[in-house]
Amino acid sequence: MIGIFDSGIGGLTVVRAVRKALPDHDLLYYGDTARSPYGAKSVDTIRDYALENIRFLLDEGADIIVAACNSASSAAPEVMTGRYKTPVFEVVTPAVEAALQATRTGRIGVIGTRATIGSGIYESLLQKADPEVRVHSAPCPLLVPLVEEGWLKKPETTMIVKKYLHPLKVRRIDTLILGCTHYPVLKETIGRKIGKRVRLIDASTAVAAAVKSFLKDHPDIDQKMRKDGSDRFVVSDSTPQFENTARVILKRTVRLETVRH
Ligand code: DGL
Repeated sequence: MIGIFDSGIGGLTVVRAVRKALPDHDLLYYGDTARSPYGAKSVDTIRDYALENIRFLLDEGADIIVAACNSASSAAPEVMTGRYKTPVFEVVTPAVEAALQATRTGRIGVIGTRATIGSGIYESLLQKADPEVRVHSAPCPLLVPLVEEGWLKKPETTMIVKKYLHPLKVRRIDTLILGCTHYPVLKETIGRKIGKRVRLIDASTAVAAAVKSFLKDHPDIDQKMRKDGSDRFVVSDSTPQFENTARVILKRTVRLETVRH
């Protein structure tokens, strides 16, 4: 089974993309809602949470894990460097590759949580791949709570998005990395406010494509995976709000199981 985790609801954008790319593979989603949001916490804390989430998914029998969280991907080098026997995918590298392919002018914007932007991971990977690119980043700490709260179409959310994007807009970026898995839920508003000429990079589709191509290249792993098209959704704290927003993202009702740490 493919195990996917995030701090909360954001990783469901990755579930949606993985389900589309691999309709039959069994999925297990773990949302660490009791400790969400991650993006405002220290690197050490996020790293500990990420490693615990990976352990949980391994204990549940995951054959592949996706860290569907930029904050965890950037805080835990173990996620980035393949310390585990079980393949662990992160969301930063696929987004970087997609942005480098998309940009024409080399002016790339990145938005994410304070933890992700503070880690400097996007700048360093983008510039390592192409020293000519100019990277402009902006932390957007209010967007995760707005998504978790389901404030997707509220005028207040549009105003906050506009304010966060303004510094990137004046830099005339042509590509914007949505460096947090919660943000694709606000894609329409972000697209409207940054302008239609700017390409939006959504890591959820990029990482789903990476998982699919990995499985094609590793039939030994693929063959032993269950393919009943089933999914389970486990959270560390269940709230009606999570269920509502999950319904909006996945366009269906999900049954939540709760585990306590
Ligand atoms: N969705 C996550 C990310 O991609 C975490 C957001 C948060 O919990 O702050 O960074």
